[in-house]
Amino acid sequence: MHPLVNIAVTAARAAGNFILRHSERVESLNVQTKGASDFVSEVDRGAEAEIIRTIRRYYPDHAILAEEGGGSEVHPDDAEYTWIIDPLDGTTNFLHRVPQYCVSIGIVRRGVVEHGVIYAPEPGDLYTASKGSGAQLNNRRLRCSRTKTLEEALIGTGMPIRNPERREIYMPMLGNVLDSTAGIRRPGSAALDLAYVATGRFDGFWELGLKPWDIAAGILMVREAGGVVSELYGRDDVLATGNVVAANIKLHDPLVSLLRSDAA
Ligand code: IPD
Ligand code: CA
Ligand code: CA
Ligand code: CA
Repeated sequence: MHPLVNIAVTAARAAGNFILRHSERVESLNVQTKGASDFVSEVDRGAEAEIIRTIRRYYPDHAILAEEGGGSEVHPDDAEYTWIIDPLDGTTNFLHRVPQYCVSIGIVRRGVVEHGVIYAPEPGDLYTASKGSGAQLNNRRLRCSRTKTLEEALIGTGMPIRNPERREIYMPMLGNVLDSTAGIRRPGSAALDLAYVATGRFDGFWELGLKPWDIAAGILMVREAGGVVSELYGRDDVLATGNVVAANIKLHDPLVSLLRSDAA
């Protein structure tokens, strides 16, 4: 395992254990609302602090971009490496005791995601990937599904909650996917949704308006498992746009076309 992945795993496990220790007392947590359906609790912040403490100990000259703002003394432009961190992806699930949430850490070198770690503490699932070296779940090599047609495909998604503008774009896509695939799931953690594409559980996934910390690790996971990730027009710059279409290699183009077609 690459030394950077080792440290990312240490950090993700520390954060995951911190989250688990608080999972029995969600009712008494101090929760704030950052935006429509975007919540942050002391657990999100505490998990982020665990991760940042670990990175600082080993790599004080690396930049950090973290969802809850605990990041950078070093500016990303001045650093070779930037760590992109979602300390708790799936906060709404966590706050409702739904065990579908994770810690997500992507490591970017000069704009390219080189390593990714996703840790789901409740099942104890550890996903790792390094560019050019494949993706693993609990040390077992991952491969995207071999499903060949959209009719057979199970597609994951994330929905725009209380965002009427984005809903306008999203609803026709949802309609097309409802009419043309085997099924849709909305589990509530974008990082894990991408990890599920990498495992082959989902044949594809799409969501609009995601942030770099939701997807940095997951994008690499899918690509290293042999899948394809693009933005809505098939281009590579997913981190910048936040619009994500991921699928196995056979279904990626058909899924892009389906999402963009006016009618199924
Ligand atoms: C959210 C989750 C969710 C997605 C939202 C994200 P958070 O992240 O990934 O699945 O639909 O767009 O904001 O806020 O729980 O870290
Ligand atoms: Ca959030
Ligand atoms: Ca997130
Ligand atoms: Ca989060």
